Amino acid sequence: MSASLRVKGGIPLVGDIEVRGAKNLVSKAMVAALLSDEPCRLRGVPEISDVQVVSGLLELHGVTIDSTDRDGELLMDPRNILQAHVADIDAHAGSSRVPVLLCGPLLHRLGEAFIPDLGGCRIGERPINYHLDVLRQFGAEVEKRQDGLRLTAPERLQGARVVLPFPSVGATEQVLLTAVLASGRTELRNAAIEPEIMDLIAVLQKMGAIISVQTDRVISIEGVERLGGYDHLAIPDRIEAGSWACAALATKGDIFVRGAQQQPMMPFLNVFRKIGGAFDIDDEGIRFWHPGGRLRSIALETDVHPGLMTDWQQPLVVALTQTAGLSILHETVYENRLGFTAALADMGATIQIYPECLGGSPCRFGRSDFKHSAVISGPTPLVAADITVPDLRGGFSYLIAALAADGESTVMGTDLIYRGYERFGDKLDALGAVYHAA
Ligand code: EPZ
Repeated sequence: MSASLRVKGGIPLVGDIEVRGAKNLVSKAMVAALLSDEPCRLRGVPEISDVQVVSGLLELHGVTIDSTDRDGELLMDPRNILQAHVADIDAHAGSSRVPVLLCGPLLHRLGEAFIPDLGGCRIGERPINYHLDVLRQFGAEVEKRQDGLRLTAPERLQGARVVLPFPSVGATEQVLLTAVLASGRTELRNAAIEPEIMDLIAVLQKMGAIISVQTDRVISIEGVERLGGYDHLAIPDRIEAGSWACAALATKGDIFVRGAQQQPMMPFLNVFRKIGGAFDIDDEGIRFWHPGGRLRSIALETDVHPGLMTDWQQPLVVALTQTAGLSILHETVYENRLGFTAALADMGATIQIYPECLGGSPCRFGRSDFKHSAVISGPTPLVAADITVPDLRGGFSYLIAALAADGESTVMGTDLIYRGYERFGDKLDALGAVYHAA
C-alpha cells in the first residue's frame, strides 16, 4: 500500500468486508506467551504492523514464531527465552506502546527487562508512570538510562495490593501479566474492564492462571508456579468494525462487517442508532447502512468501558459532520485527541474545540488548557483536500472524510493506518471505493 492515496470522494461504500482479531488484544496475547513454558497458538491474527512489531520483539527474546498454513494463525514457542540486546530492542522503539508490557514476563523469566522510549499515537502525553509504580509494587527495581529504562527483579516478584489512579488499559494489563506468576495474591482496584482485557484474562486462564473479576472494577489474581500454553481465537476488532460503520454513514453507504459482534460494540451501536444510522445483527456479523433522510446530531462523551470507547470518537466525528444540528463531544480519556479536527475544518466541516468539559460530567482535564471538547455543526458538505494522517484512528477518519468529500483528495501517511487496519486497500476495493496510489 502506497504511503499516499488519491481518493475520489462522493461514492457510497457498499459491500461486504471482514474484521479479524482485535489489535489491542492480539498484541497482548502474544506478550502473554512469554509467560509460558509450552507453545502457544493464537488465531484470528490480523495482518497489521503492530503484530509485526510484537513478533519482532518476541523473536529478539528467543521466541520462535511460525505462521501455520492456516490464515491468521501464529504458533509461538517461548521455551528458549533469552535477554535481547538493548540496541536491538531500541530499534523497535517509537513504533508501539506494547514493549512496556514485556516487563512482567521478562522479569519473571530472566530477572531483568529493558523498555525503549515508547511510541504509539500522539494523542496525549501517554506516560507510563502507572506501569512503573505497579512494577515497583511487585518488587522490581527501575533504573532510568538515557536510551530507556532497565528493570531488575533481585528475587521472585511478590503479589501486591494495587489501586490505579485511573482505569488504565495498559496498566491493568501490566498488573495481569505480572501478578499471574508472582508469589501470593494480588488485588487490583480501579481496573480497566474492556472486552480486550476480559479476553486477555481468558487467555491467561487457559494457561493456568487463577484470576477473578469482581464487582466495581476489582480484579484478584492468585499467583501460580508455572503457566502452560494456550490455543485462542482472538475477539474481533470492535474499533475497526465501528470505523467501517462510520464510513457507511458518512458515504451514505451500506457495509456488512463480517465478524463484528454486538456485545463488545453495544455503546457504539446505541450512538449509531441515535445518529440515525441503521444496523442489523446476525450470527455472521453486523450490517451498517445509511437509511436515507437526515442524520441527527447528538451529545456524546467517551469513557472507559462500558462507556463509549475513545477509539471510536475520531471516525464518529466525521459522521457527525453530516448530521443536522449541533453535536457536542466530550473526550475524557485522552487530553489531546481532537487535533485531527483541524483538517476536517479545512475540508468544510464546522468544528470548534474547547478546553471545557462540554456536555457531560467534569473530567480529569477540566482544569487544564487541553482542548478536549468539540462542537460540530452540520450537515456541512466536505470538499476534497490534501491531508496528512496524524495518528492511527485520526488517519482512518481522514480516509472516511476523503471518501465522503466532493472531489479528489490526497491522503498522505496512510502507512500509519496499517498499524491497526489490516488489508484496508482490499477492503476499499471490495466496497467500491475509487482511489489510486498518489
Ligand atoms: C490502550 O492504550 C489502547 N492501545 C488505546 O488504543 C486505547 O485508546 C486506550 O487503551 C484506552 O482504551 C493499546 O491497547 C495498544 P490507557 P493505553 O493506559 O493502554 C493515562 C488505538 O488506537 N495513563 O488506558 O496506552 C493516559 O495518559 C489505541 O488502538 C497515565 O496517566 O491507554 C490516558 O490519559 C489508541 N499513566 C489514560 O490513562 C499511565 O501510566 C488512558 O490510557 C498509563 C496511562
